[in-house]
Amino acid sequence: MRVDIGNNDIGILGLGVMGFNLALNIKSKGFSVAGYENNSDLLKSLSNSSKDLNIFNSISTFVQQLKTPRVVLLMITAGPPVDEAITKLRSFLTSGDIIIDAGNSYYKDSLRRQKQLKVYDINYIGLGVSGGADGARFGPAIMAGASKASYAKVQPILHEIAARTKNHEVCAVRLGDSAAVGHFVKMMHNGIEYADMQIISEAYGLLSKGLGLTALQISDIFEKWSKTELSSFLIEITTFILRYIDNDARVPLIDLIADNAEQKGTGKLAAIAALELGVAAPSISEAVSARTLSSLKSERVYSASIFQKPKNENSIKLMDIKKGLLAAKVCAYAQGFAVLTSASQHYCWSLELAQVAHNWRAGCIIRAQFLDKVATAFIEEPKLVNLMISSHFSAVLRQTIPSLRKVVGWAVSQGISVPVLAVSLSYFDTYSSHELPTNLIQAQRDYFGSHGHERVDKPGTFRTNWKN
Ligand code: 6PG
Repeated sequence: MRVDIGNNDIGILGLGVMGFNLALNIKSKGFSVAGYENNSDLLKSLSNSSKDLNIFNSISTFVQQLKTPRVVLLMITAGPPVDEAITKLRSFLTSGDIIIDAGNSYYKDSLRRQKQLKVYDINYIGLGVSGGADGARFGPAIMAGASKASYAKVQPILHEIAARTKNHEVCAVRLGDSAAVGHFVKMMHNGIEYADMQIISEAYGLLSKGLGLTALQISDIFEKWSKTELSSFLIEITTFILRYIDNDARVPLIDLIADNAEQKGTGKLAAIAALELGVAAPSISEAVSARTLSSLKSERVYSASIFQKPKNENSIKLMDIKKGLLAAKVCAYAQGFAVLTSASQHYCWSLELAQVAHNWRAGCIIRAQFLDKVATAFIEEPKLVNLMISSHFSAVLRQTIPSLRKVVGWAVSQGISVPVLAVSLSYFDTYSSHELPTNLIQAQRDYFGSHGHERVDKPGTFRTNWKN
């Protein structure tokens, strides 16, 4: 007979960096927490740093520590490990218990898991958690896909540990019933994060490789920009990173860091989701490709030796780089929110984009005052089809696109890589073109595949016998 001695409010399964910091955060808010970890090395390292955490390496003992209805939060690598953990847990959980998947799980897996567990009357919550280790410890942004009833049970904990905005609003929200919506919105957060990070990296490249400024000089420039509408967590940490001096080499560490950017894959999944939904998100997919290309170091070194960069004496103004950065950011965020709009319609989630933007104002990696303006844009125009045409951001783009055009033109003339700045400009130019040359594509498709085409002078679909 199983003895339930559970008196813990929540169990955290997976005590890696994120899981352990979440456990400490939850504990610091006065909740009782049991931890589970089966990695022996991790258990050893935890033994001396987790004096106030009850940690178990047996699933059955771990589950017995939990109050009913039991709440188990998974913070483990996305994919098969999540299914394995659920299978192990299921033998010990009972009707009404709750599993919260707080990792970067793929949203289609979350949909499947929620359905599978429903059969056992076990609730499955898809929880997007953003903010890295510090966010987990001191306040992440939380995006939940959960039934109203199951969210009501876990809301006290989630709202206590979540980040707060400057006016103390809690950055934790239930976005809908489907577990998929929490992980989808987190995935799009990461897609936007990739684009945002790439745009900042390209501005750094223009200032360093293009204008020959030092890391310390660029840090000062970013610090000035952090006091404008470009203010964001990513700009702030960039300011700090660029002035960080390596102790041994006594030079800015950034100058010694290898340029092959890695990726765990969340940005890639965001780009795939956009393509699957038929939404153009080139800034996000180009940011993924930029990381992929950056990893081809030996190929890049070789091709750099056989191709010369153009020498071009003219220069570019700092103000143009700043404005170009802002213009590209607007274009990238417009794409991310366009994907969210399409997904919400496709999956019938009834996502409120202003709520998503509001929830990203603190705790998450893309947190920025910029998101206040995004939320306002969707509040003022709930049916807004693209952020770029909102009253606020269309005015911003009218002031900044000319600079982005100059910056991209200058970078191209210098042979400096600016893939996301350039594709963001092209996205804007395409989206704001009354006429495009894609009529020729229709003609070509009809020529070789008889796929038909519409006409501008009369309604209907036409097939032309081109060879006649
Ligand atoms: C967050 C981050 C996080 C991300 C890691 C690594 O919101 O806290 O986006 O979820 O997974 O920072 O991401 P990449 O390896 O994909 O850059």
